[in-house]
Amino acid sequence: MLSWDDETASAPAARTVAQNAAQPAAEAQADAASVAKRVHADDKRIINGKTDVNQLVPFKYKWAWDKYLAGCANHWMPQEVNMQRDIELWKNPNGLTEDERRLVKRNLGFFVTADSLAANNIVLGTYRHITAPECRQYLLRQAFEEAIHTHAYQYIVESLGLDEGEIFNAYNEVKSIRDKDEFLIPFINTLTDPAFTTGTVENDQKLLKSLIVFACLMEGLFFYVGFTQILALGRQNKMMGAAEQYQYILRDESMHCNFGIDLINTIKMENPLLWTPAFKEEIKQLFLKAVDLEYAYAEDTMPRGVLGLNATMFKGYLRFIANRRAQQIGLDAMFAQEENPFPWMSEMIDLKKERNFFETRVTEYQTGGALNWE
Ligand SMILES: [Fe+2]
Ligand SMILES: [Fe+2]
Repeated sequence: MLSWDDETASAPAARTVAQNAAQPAAEAQADAASVAKRVHADDKRIINGKTDVNQLVPFKYKWAWDKYLAGCANHWMPQEVNMQRDIELWKNPNGLTEDERRLVKRNLGFFVTADSLAANNIVLGTYRHITAPECRQYLLRQAFEEAIHTHAYQYIVESLGLDEGEIFNAYNEVKSIRDKDEFLIPFINTLTDPAFTTGTVENDQKLLKSLIVFACLMEGLFFYVGFTQILALGRQNKMMGAAEQYQYILRDESMHCNFGIDLINTIKMENPLLWTPAFKEEIKQLFLKAVDLEYAYAEDTMPRGVLGLNATMFKGYLRFIANRRAQQIGLDAMFAQEENPFPWMSEMIDLKKERNFFETRVTEYQTGGALNWE
């Protein structure tokens, strides 16, 4: 039964003693049994937990709660970003080169459906397998952020007057995009299959593998060619509104990726049997495949050099990112020492609200979090 009492962790024992004195013996005994069932932080587990998922506290995974609060503090909405300059540039026949237009369309062609895949993966898959309520709380926030991202991409498509059918079907019709999505879909299907449950080593490994693919390879790698491209346009004073939206999305995605990595590492710590040499080798192969797919996408979106970028630079960048993601989950780097060819991307990821690079947005939530009743 739900209890609406707001008691501290140390209160139950004192309350039981007081009640025992005042109540008949049978009732006091029942009460003590209920109290004994209260959630203890030590008993919580990320997967296969037995504690009540409706009780957010006592906290065990403070990192998840902190990320939930940080996600809320970073709240933004697409329609707050002024798209007028982007619209004028897009409509001006001399505003952008053909290669730049191709890049924008292929870029959106991946992203307009990617965040729906991400949202469905969380809501229909990941969420129900995670038994720590503070992690679920973050996933709820993340799911809404994915909706905001889909909204942002749709808003850009609509603002520029692009062919919706062409952009939203790119994941069926453009090979480099379809290949990325086809790589992801089996891992999403594992988690969203209604018959799939955790609780065996085999299935727990399947869950962990899907979480790694989603955080490290989808959010942590497949988004990075696209983010870099649009932010590079913005750095050249082109498509500034779109670039600003991508900057907010990049910040959100960077948090999703970091949450996913904390989740993965905590599951590993709580279930060391899952992290076998064979499993690690399987993950390594998935990383190598993902780097190849993302590189093919870079080549397809930039058949020639554009904006001072070219596909070869991305080969180095993707290896650099893949090494970092591997190390973040406790695997060895997969490629020889790779330099980051886009150090300015790190600055974009570390965006602070008060230092908005493109400065086209009017509303700030970070400073306006408190309600004013006057
Ligand atoms: Fe997203
Ligand atoms: Fe995400």
